[in-house]
Parts: sequence; C-alpha cells; structure tokens
Amino acid sequence: MKLLIHKEKRQIVDGREHIVGEELQYFITNLNRDVDTKYGRIAKEDLSKPNGSLLLTKDTGKEFILLEPTFIDLYKRLRKLPQTIPSKDIGLIIAETGINKESTIVDSGLGSGALACALAHIAKHVTSYEIREDHLAVSQENIKLLSITNITAKHKNIYDGIDEKNVDLITFDLPEPWKAVVHAANALLVGGWLVSYSPSIIQANDFATEATKDERLMTVKTVEIIERLWETEGRKVRPKSTGIGHSGFLTFVRKVRA
Ligand SMILES: C[S@@+](CC[C@H](N)C(=O)[O-])C[C@H]1O[C@@H](n2cnc3c(N)ncnc32)[C@H](O)[C@@H]1O
Repeated sequence: MKLLIHKEKRQIVDGREHIVGEELQYFITNLNRDVDTKYGRIAKEDLSKPNGSLLLTKDTGKEFILLEPTFIDLYKRLRKLPQTIPSKDIGLIIAETGINKESTIVDSGLGSGALACALAHIAKHVTSYEIREDHLAVSQENIKLLSITNITAKHKNIYDGIDEKNVDLITFDLPEPWKAVVHAANALLVGGWLVSYSPSIIQANDFATEATKDERLMTVKTVEIIERLWETEGRKVRPKSTGIGHSGFLTFVRKVRA
C-alpha cells in the first residue's frame, strides 16, 4: 500500500518552499498498474521509489509525494458505521488514564472499532462488546485494515455483564452506559478507570449519578474538549470557519476500593 499526496498548497518560509495543511491524498492498494489522479497519471514504476520521493504525472508534470502509509494514515480511512469518537477525545482518555503496553482494556460498543483500534495500538489487549452483527462486520474490516491482532470482539450485550477481571481501563460509548456501571466496578482492578463517552449531557449525568452510588467508585470529572482549528498562512492567521463542533462528553470514574 502507498500514499500519494498532491503537492500544490505551498508556503514560502525563510525563502524556502514548504508544504502546508492537509493535501489531496490517494491511497494505492494495487501497485501493479498506473494511478489515475485528478491531475494526471502516475506511472506504476514510480510507486516502487523510496519513501518521500517526488513523482511527476506523465502528461501534466504535476508533483506528488510518495509515502508509506503509517498507522494514522490508515486510521483516518476507517469506515465509520456507526459514528466514531474523534481523536481529540481519544487523546484525553489515553492521557488521563495513563494506559500503556501492559494495560488490558474492555470497551463497548465496538461500533466501527475506531476507539478499540486506537487503544489497541498502545495497550496490551482490548476486549470489545458489541450487540449488532452488522457493526461487528464493519469493525472487523477496520481491524484488518490496520493489521491489529490484539482485539477480541465479543458479540454480547454488555448490560448483561463483563466476563473479564482485573481490567485497567473500561470505555463505554453506549446509549445507556449507566446500565453497565456495576459490571465495570466488578471487572476493574483497584486504581483502574472507567470512562464513558456520551453525545448528550443528560446521558453523561445519568451515568455519573449511577457511578456515584457505587462506593467502590470515585466520580472524578465530566469534560468536553473543544477543538478550534486555525489558519496559519503568511499573515492570514485566524480561526478557521470550519471544524469539529460538538462531539461528546467524557466522564472519568476511578475504582478506588475493592
Ligand atoms: C456510537 S457506537 C460506538 C463507536 C465506537 N466507540 C467507535 O469508536 O467506533 C455505539 C455502539 O454500541 C453498540 N451497543 C449499543 N448497546 C449495546 C450493548 N448493550 N452492548 C454492546 N454493544 C452495544 C451499538 O450497536 C453501536 O455499535
């Protein structure tokens, strides 16, 4: 697999040309044929050139950069059915819970598998519960695209219980997360985290209220991360008029007693 990036948007900084911003990208899965782009044809022989090579389209001489796609390039191409958690929210889950390559995680619902994949990329193992077969099928495609081998997908209703024990982190992206609080409290090790993501503050509040009733759990905080994109081109420095609006609320709960 290769990634072709069209190099058109440029900026001169200190007399040198730099590429800025997100560019038009082509993912190439078949390296045995020429690639037709919006700007002309790239010869298949060029696709075996070293990472970072500058390629020219045959007919129009337009410039493309050839890259080996990394995890994040592939991650951005995941099929999103159903809707996934944005990176800004995933980042906070990772930063606040301190998970690492020793961590075991339970997640639900698996959905498109985006959160499970992002967590599996840095943790030891992720088990994810999902009730819908069609969503399980989409998540399997996504897990395969990323070549992830440390996710176990379970076709199971998480409101009926969590089989795993001594879990470091449990993540919920569920319509009624409060129904699985007691199961999470049973499954977590002391010191472990339960994080619930909900688009509505009513859901987040009902979840926090349920968690607060369990004396093994400490309800730490509910937060919303607001990401504002800026344009930084020459002297045009201002907030972009487009960007992610509201995504969801994250409620952080910690197991503090056995
Ligand atoms: C918004 S999606 C999750 C998206 C996922 N976090 C991602 O990043 O791709 C919610 C998922 O929860 C699943 N779900 C809903 N209730 C469930 C339950 N009781 N047990 C397991 N999965 C459930 C839904 O079928 C759906 O796939």
